[in-house]
Amino acid sequence: MASSMLVPSVFCSPPSPGCIFRRRGGSPLVSFRFTSSGSERKKGFNRLALSVSAAAADSPPSTVLVTGAGGRTGEIVYKKLKERSGQFTARGLVRTPESKVKIGNADDVYVGDIRDIGSIIPAIQGIDALVILTSAVPKMKPGFDPSKGERPEFYFEESALPEQVDWIGQKNQIDAAKSAGVKQIVLVGSMGGTDLNNPLNNIGNGNILVWKRKAEQYLADSGIPYTIIRAGGLQDTAGGVRELLVGRDDELLKTQTRTIARSDVAEVCIQALLLEEAKYKALDLSSKPEGDGIPTTDFKDLFSKITARF
Ligand SMILES: NC(=O)c1ccc[n+]([C@@H]2O[C@H](COP(=O)([O-])OP(=O)(O)OC[C@H]3O[C@@H](n4cnc5c(N)ncnc54)[C@H](OP(=O)(O)O)[C@@H]3O)[C@@H](O)[C@H]2O)c1
Repeated sequence: MASSMLVPSVFCSPPSPGCIFRRRGGSPLVSFRFTSSGSERKKGFNRLALSVSAAAADSPPSTVLVTGAGGRTGEIVYKKLKERSGQFTARGLVRTPESKVKIGNADDVYVGDIRDIGSIIPAIQGIDALVILTSAVPKMKPGFDPSKGERPEFYFEESALPEQVDWIGQKNQIDAAKSAGVKQIVLVGSMGGTDLNNPLNNIGNGNILVWKRKAEQYLADSGIPYTIIRAGGLQDTAGGVRELLVGRDDELLKTQTRTIARSDVAEVCIQALLLEEAKYKALDLSSKPEGDGIPTTDFKDLFSKITARF
């Protein structure tokens, strides 16, 4: 990422820039297998056993669109979906043709701008679920010289302020998804939104957490099954090696465990698509340091710890 794109994070310390079975449409998918008990074997009988928790080879893959697929977390989600082609048919939405090339230039990547609802409708038509990973991105003002001990200053480009991207742009995605009958939305936001004075709101006078929160509320009120994931400070480190922590109301921000790998956030997005326990929930998400705790593998248990709807 170019230095002009660095995003400061209040979560970093110090602050720096920086089954195969699933339910579809509410109906459990089931498969049958034949087993035989000892006595039945003697009698030559097979017994039909109903299995409701294993794989559903006959389940059509769920078509999932990831927006912000050219972004750092969005690209990971898009690639994870493609790796699990038995479960998902992946689509990506990027803002520019350059981003499309960057993530492989596949036909399943659409180009559109979330501020213009008409431009994103083709990507949304026909999907089962939507993962929202778009965000306004502040840019660093030129002339910053770290050798002078200066603090960098940031700004948002005109018409790419958080109000336009994180509020209008996310609202457009939710409205388009609702019109298209999308069955589920996973939205990645940020911890810190309970505090108007959170320093992230001062960046470029953008009030970014305020606008993100407004979009989250709009989603929770939409009637579409949703999961809102409010991540801690994002890190470009390996996923699957840390114990994940969930919380609510920014409680995790008061602890020393307030960061998380982008790859772990991406995996939680995927698991939210698969598990009923994630639906109609909003959760803060961070992780313990690597080597401290047991890496999370039971996502059902993770989502079950949360009861908050917003
Ligand atoms: N950075 C942190 O420490 C932190 C902490 C907590 C939560 N979060 C949140 O976590 C999420 C993922 O963060 P990230 O750093 O992985 O994301 P990112 O790399 O900043 O990606 C954001 C994506 O949004 C796209 N986008 C922006 N405006 C758009 C528009 N008008 N139309 C279509 N796409 C547009 C960007 O495309 P272009 O590149 O083409 O503009 C970019 O690909 C964000 O919501 C972020 O706010 C971040």
